[in-house]
This record gives sequence, C-alpha cells and structure tokens, in this order.
Amino acid sequence: MTDRLFDDPPRNDVPRIIGHRGAMGHAPENTLASFRKAHELGCDWVEFDCMLSDDEAIVIHHDDALDRTTDGTGIVAETALAQIRRLDAGGWFADRYRGQQVPTLDETIALLRETGMGGNVEIKPVRGYERNTGKIVAHQTWELWPTELPPPVVSSFSLTALEQAVIAAPNLDYAILWWDIPEEWAYHHGRLNARAAHCNAGRLDEAQTTAFLEAGIAVRCYTVNDPDQAQRLFDWGVSSIFSDFPDRFL
Ligand code: G3P
Ligand code: MG
Repeated sequence: MTDRLFDDPPRNDVPRIIGHRGAMGHAPENTLASFRKAHELGCDWVEFDCMLSDDEAIVIHHDDALDRTTDGTGIVAETALAQIRRLDAGGWFADRYRGQQVPTLDETIALLRETGMGGNVEIKPVRGYERNTGKIVAHQTWELWPTELPPPVVSSFSLTALEQAVIAAPNLDYAILWWDIPEEWAYHHGRLNARAAHCNAGRLDEAQTTAFLEAGIAVRCYTVNDPDQAQRLFDWGVSSIFSDFPDRFL
C-alpha cells in the first residue's frame, strides 16, 4: 500500500485519447497540419513538444536537431527563430504537406482556441538548456493559455526543467514523464506537485499503476497505437493514452 500523496483526487477532465504530436501517424509531427488532422479525426486534446530557439522563442519541435523533420540542419537551440521559420517541416513526410512551418507556441495556442482542443504542453529542452526552457515555456503557457480551454497539462522528462517551471508558474497542472520509474518517484511527484505520471506503455506494469493511483496520481501512457494494449492499460486504471493514430480508438 502506497502512502497517499495528495488528498484530493486528480483531475478527470483529460480525455482517454490524446493525439501524439498532433496525429503524427497521418501528418508531419508537431505541425499545425498535424494538430488540424487530430481535430478532424475527433481528438479533444493533442500533445506537442516545446523547445527554445537560439533567441529564446518557443518552437514546437521534438528532436534537438532540425535534420529529421525539416529541410534544415543544426541544433534548434543554436538557430534563430527567423531561420527556423524559413524551413519546410512537412515535405519530409509527404509532398502534400510541403509548406508547413515549425510552429510557434502562440500559433499553436491560437489553433487550439479555434478548434476548442485542449493540450498537453511537453517541455522538451535541448540538452544543456533545461533550466531556461522550463522557465520560459511555463511562463508563456501560463500567460497565453485561453481561459475558455481546459487548463493544460505541462509535462517533461527533465526534472530540472520542471523545477524551474514550477517556480515560474506554480499554478499550472504538472505531470512527470517517466521512461523507467525510479524508486523515489513519490518524492519527485510530491516536491513538484505533479498530479500525473506520463509513463512509457511498454515499461509500466499493473503494480506500479496501482501504486500511482493509490498515491492520488493519474496515469497516462505513451505511445499506444494498438487497441488491445490500450484496453489492458485502461483495465489497470490508466486514464489516457497518447496515440499517433487516434482514429484507431475514436
Ligand atoms: O508526452 C508523451 C510523449 O510525447 C513523450 O515522448 O519522445 O514522443 O516526446 P516523446
Ligand atoms: Mg512529446
């Protein structure tokens, strides 16, 4: 039996299916086209990755380097926003997506407002930029998030980024992203006031899920594309999954 960390229950307004990087099985990940695709497929929420450009603008991008998902090259944190915006972020996926840019956080939030979708803002610092990325992404999310949308969930694998985020915006709703779950998970959830664990679906087991739930922590899993696996996780008490193919579940 795990000690209860939080007395009140975790929020229950996050949908079961969250589009991963938009709907990255169908459209180029982390682009406005991908977020629109997720909406067309019926998603109520999407997840996206936030990092800083060289001039500390927030851009929606997954890898440290630009090479895989744009026609550019180099490290995002060493490239100015104006240069990043000149790149094509869709042609690598399919010709019809040529012309997609790497979005900013502002543009992404505007699209969420237009469509009414909620969002999981993942803080994804380029290695070495954890503190500033956590601080700036949290601050901007707090400032810009529309009141008519459900409050965002802000998550990160980087505990350093989350520490700075919590200082910059203590009233946001935080989740810790776990790959392997350390023995001292409860300590980190407590000190960061993180009401959810976003766990690797392939490495989580039922006992750990139960321990989170008993502590008052919601469990959500990435990345789930197989309906049988999703059902098993829901049976354990996992409340949401992140999927590249949300249409398989909706
Ligand atoms: O936030 C869930 C998931 O996106 C975490 O992994 O590498 O796809 O950002 P990754
Ligand atoms: Mg992510």
